[in-house]
Amino acid sequence: MFNPKNLSPKQLSAFTALVLSVPISLGFWFLRPNWIITLVALCVTFLGSYLLIQFVLEWFIYRKIKLIYKFIYQTKANKREETYYKYILPQKSIDEVREDVEKWAEQRKAEIELLKTNEAYRKEFLQNLSHEFKTPIFAIQGYVDTLLSGAIDNPAVNRRFLENAAKNVDRMVNLAEDLDEISRLESGEQPLNKGLFVIQDLIKEIYETLSIKTSAKNIKTSIKKGCEAPVTVYADKEKIRQVINNLLENATKYGKQDGSIVSSIYKTDGRLVLIEFSDDGIGIGEDHLPRIFERFYRTDRGRSRDVGGTGLGLAICKHIIEAHGQTMHVRSKLDVGTTIGFTLDERTSIN
Ligand SMILES: Nc1ncnc2c1ncn2[C@@H]1O[C@H](COP(=O)(O)OP(=O)(O)OP(=O)(O)O)[C@@H](O)[C@H]1O
Ligand SMILES: [Mg+2]
Repeated sequence: MFNPKNLSPKQLSAFTALVLSVPISLGFWFLRPNWIITLVALCVTFLGSYLLIQFVLEWFIYRKIKLIYKFIYQTKANKREETYYKYILPQKSIDEVREDVEKWAEQRKAEIELLKTNEAYRKEFLQNLSHEFKTPIFAIQGYVDTLLSGAIDNPAVNRRFLENAAKNVDRMVNLAEDLDEISRLESGEQPLNKGLFVIQDLIKEIYETLSIKTSAKNIKTSIKKGCEAPVTVYADKEKIRQVINNLLENATKYGKQDGSIVSSIYKTDGRLVLIEFSDDGIGIGEDHLPRIFERFYRTDRGRSRDVGGTGLGLAICKHIIEAHGQTMHVRSKLDVGTTIGFTLDERTSIN
């Protein structure tokens, strides 16, 4: 369907000029039925009105539209934009201009939404942070006050109180270190020191360092049958050690007594390796799953059992894996267990 709204200014001028010049030249024909005069009248009125309308559109309408575009982009036009204003914009129909403005408004709306969620996130972060610091500080304050007001001379409790105070100091130190780690990761200050290493060897080393914790709960650790063949990955070994350590610590903390932890390593398409850790512990409810990678997020079960840490572990893992350009994922079922993993680049040589 013909729609004058979709015409560019040039087409619009030509269309209007035609609408004007045809009846005028027909008028000439009725006055003097001479086809040369009629043709000249048609050409002159068409050209004259075309130029006039084009001029009016350009000067009074498209100049204003150019101003709107400049405002939208809020920059002093560079060479490319100048070319755009000069040659591309005048070809745009009013409808296309409206679409551009609508697109711009949508973008602005999205930016504002993002700012709002960031603001809410910042508030929640500060609340969580002060809560996490308050707990150990008040505990330390309690023990120190009790010791000062006489308990220090009571050999039955003084050592225990000091040990408890020291435990809370450790908790605060851990928290400060985790926060420091997260902010360094977020600011991109820590460059990755990538190299080649065999993922199974690293997992076995970490099993070894965690053996005191796993054997305390009589948890068996293993590498899944069929996944033992060494796979070389290209990544920052120490950072990946931190990730696996965090994931295996979680699997132990939230794993069941006499349970098991199994690591699986799958080659996907010859480019990526999928590394997963499965436990048969308390599991994570469906409603919590999408949030466990958030800073300070802990499920109620983790809290109530009083085994959870600060809730920063998985946030740090996610940062490290994303810094490698890879992704983390989790599957879990309450009272059945959790499988959590990530991908890495598979490589046999650095080039
Ligand atoms: N393997 C798992 N089984 C069940 N729940 C888990 C598991 N891993 C993580 N979670 C849940 O996800 C939450 C977030 O884990 P995350 O490692 O970030 O924190 P955390 O273990 O509580 O503390 P941190 O690791 O900082 O000492 C945990 O508190 C726990 O509720
Ligand atoms: Mg953890």
